[in-house]
Amino acid sequence: MNNPKRYTITAALPYTNGPVHIGHLAGVYVPGDIYTRYLRAIGKDVIYICGSDEHGVPITIRAKKEGVTPQQIVDKYHEVIKNSFQEFGISFDNYSRTSAEIHHKTASDFFKKLYKNGKFIEETNEQLYDADAKQFLADRFVIGTCPKCGNEESYGDQCENCGTSHNATDLINPKSAITGNVPSLKETKHWYLPLNEYEKWLKEWIVVGHKNDWKPNVLGQVGSWIEDGLRPRAVTRDLDWGIKVPVKDAGGKVLYVWFDAPIGYISATKEWAEKKGEDWQPYWKDKDTKLVHFIGKDNIVFHCIIFPAMLKAEGSFILPDNVPANEFLNLEDNKISTSKNWAVWLHEYLEDFPNQQDVLRYVLTANAPESKDNNFTWKDFQARNNNELVAIFGNFINRVVVLTHKYYDGIVPSSNGKIDQVSLINNFPKDISDSIEKYRFREALGKLMNLARQGNGFLQEQEPWKKIKDASKKEEVETIMNQALQIATALAVLCEPFLPFTSKKLKNILNLDDSLTWNDIATKKEFIAPNHQINKGELLFAKIEDDEIQKQLDKLQATKTANEIENKVMEPVKETISFEDFTKLDIRIGTILSAEKIAKTKKLLKLQVDLGFEIRTIVSGIAESFTAEEVIGKKVSVLINLAPRKIRGVESNGMILMTENTSGKLSFVAPDSVKNEVKNGESVS
Ligand code: 2FM
Ligand code: ZN
Repeated sequence: MNNPKRYTITAALPYTNGPVHIGHLAGVYVPGDIYTRYLRAIGKDVIYICGSDEHGVPITIRAKKEGVTPQQIVDKYHEVIKNSFQEFGISFDNYSRTSAEIHHKTASDFFKKLYKNGKFIEETNEQLYDADAKQFLADRFVIGTCPKCGNEESYGDQCENCGTSHNATDLINPKSAITGNVPSLKETKHWYLPLNEYEKWLKEWIVVGHKNDWKPNVLGQVGSWIEDGLRPRAVTRDLDWGIKVPVKDAGGKVLYVWFDAPIGYISATKEWAEKKGEDWQPYWKDKDTKLVHFIGKDNIVFHCIIFPAMLKAEGSFILPDNVPANEFLNLEDNKISTSKNWAVWLHEYLEDFPNQQDVLRYVLTANAPESKDNNFTWKDFQARNNNELVAIFGNFINRVVVLTHKYYDGIVPSSNGKIDQVSLINNFPKDISDSIEKYRFREALGKLMNLARQGNGFLQEQEPWKKIKDASKKEEVETIMNQALQIATALAVLCEPFLPFTSKKLKNILNLDDSLTWNDIATKKEFIAPNHQINKGELLFAKIEDDEIQKQLDKLQATKTANEIENKVMEPVKETISFEDFTKLDIRIGTILSAEKIAKTKKLLKLQVDLGFEIRTIVSGIAESFTAEEVIGKKVSVLINLAPRKIRGVESNGMILMTENTSGKLSFVAPDSVKNEVKNGESVS
C-alpha cells in the first residue's frame, strides 16, 4: 500500500503460560518494534498493539502442572511478560490482555455477528474424549501422529514440525495429554467456520494479489494449504477456560483460543483509544490504514487464512497489508523449548547483562531468522558485541567525543566547508528506509553499521590526532571534527529504531533533544551546530569477557544434564529366567582385529574378532556411534553361541555386547583393557 494514512502494527499475543525468551524477541517483538519506531521517526500515525493471550489449552496445562488455577497462571505471567517487553524497549502503544472485559465483549460481539448472519455451520459429530479426565480433547490436550509429516508428537490443532493445522480427529494414534489414555469418541455440537467457502477468495487475495510483496516463506505455506484444500474449522471448544460461547444452547463451551486471540488486536486497540480519547475505528476500518501482523512461522495459518476469513465474514474490517512472519531461532543448535527450559529467558539475561538490552536487540536483529531458521550462540553474541558494537560503533563515538573534549573543551568546532561527509550521510536514511519498508531488518541494521564504519574510516584517513600538531592545519582539524560530529549525530538519530537505549545515551552525550528527525538527516546540511556544547562521554558498549560467556554455556550444559536425567526412561525389567537359561549364554572376551563399513548402510560394520581360539566375522550395528578406525584393537564382550545370521549378504557369527544411553549412543561392554589382564576367549559369567 502506497502512502497509507495510518498504520496498525500488531505483534502476536504471547501465550501467558511462561516468561518470554530470545526466540520471541527475535522473531516477532524486535522486528515489530523496529518497524514501528521507524514509522514514528518518519512522522507517521502508527499504533503498536499487543497483549497477553490468556485462554487456550497451554494455560490450563501449565495451571494443572503447577497445581494452581488458570487465572493465577495468567496473572503471574502477564506481569512477567509485560515487564520483559518494557525492559527491552518494546514500545507498544498498548499491551492488553484477553481476560480484559473489553476483549470478552469484543470477541463475543464478533461471534454473535457471524452467528446472526449465518456465517457458521452448526454440526454435531464425534470428538475425542478422555473418560478418566471427563473431558473432550482438543488442541494441545491431545498428541498423536501428524497425518501430513508423520511427526509423532503433533498437537490436536497443529503440528509444530510441518506447521500443518488440522482437527484433533485427524491425528493418527491420538493420546490424551492429561492421562496418556487412548481417547474414545463422543458426540458434541460445535460451530464451524466454512474455510472452504473462502478458498477462492483467499487464493485471489494472497497467492495472486500479494505474490510480489509478501515473504516467500509466507506465500509458500499459504499456497500449500490452499492447494491441499481448506475445510470447515471449529471455532468453539468443550472447555471451561475461555470466553463463553454467546449463544443460548452453548453451555460448557468456549470460543476456540485462535478465534478469540486475534480479535485481541482489535480489543487492545479499543482499550488504547479509550485511554487516549481517540477513535479506534479508523485503525481497523479505514481502507487507507495499513495493517501489518508481526508473527512467527507457526502462526501463519491463523493470520493468513483463519483470521482474514473471520474478518471477511464480519465484513466491516480491513485486511492485513502484510504478514512478515519470521522463521525460528534455535539456541546453540537446538530448538528453543519452554518445557525443556532450553532458552535464554529475558528476565534472566538482564540479571547477567544489566543495562545491555541493546546488545541483545542488536545480535537478534543481525542474526534474525528472516528467511530461514537461525542459530543463536553465545560465542556469536560475544563476537558481535566485541567486534561490531564495541570495535566499530562504540569506538567511533568514543574517539569523536574524547577528541572534541580534548581539542575544544566539548564545544563543536566550525567547518570551513572543504570536507563534506554530510552529503554521504544524507543517503543513509533513504537507504535504511528501503530495507525496513521491505521488512529486511538485518539488511537495514547492516546499513546503519556502515555509517559507523564510514565514521571510523573517515577519522582513520584524516588522522586529526596527527594534524592537530601542525598549527597551520587548525582549521582543517576543526572541519574534520565538525564532520565527525555530524556522523555521530546522524548515528544517534538513525540507530533509534534498532538500539533505542543507545540512541538515548548518545543523544545525552551529544546534548541533543529529540527535535532532529529522520528526514532532517536526509535533507539538512548540518545536524549539530558549531558552538554547541556536548557532554562528557560514557562508554556506549563494554567488552564481554570469556568468563561471562562461559557462565552462560555452563548454565545451558546444566540444563542439558538435568533434562537427560529427567528423561531417562529405564527399560522395564524383563521376565525372570532360570539360572540354567542364563548358563546357555556363552559370552567371551575378544579383540576387534579389523572393521569396515558395509556399503549402503548407515549402521553396520563388518568386524573380524579374535576370540583366542578362532577369528570370527561379526556384523554389528554400531557405525552411528563409532568409526571403523576407532574400534580396531578394542577388547569387547561377545555372545558367541548366537545362531549365525546373514545380514546384508554377510554371515554374522555372534554379537558384540553394547550399552545404549537415552539418546541412542552406544558404548562397549568391555573388560578393563588398560591393565590387559583379560585374555581373548575368557568367559564372562
Ligand atoms: O503462538 C502463540 O503464542 C499465540 N498465543 C499467538 C497468538 S497471536 C494472535 F492471534 F493473538
Ligand atoms: Zn506435521
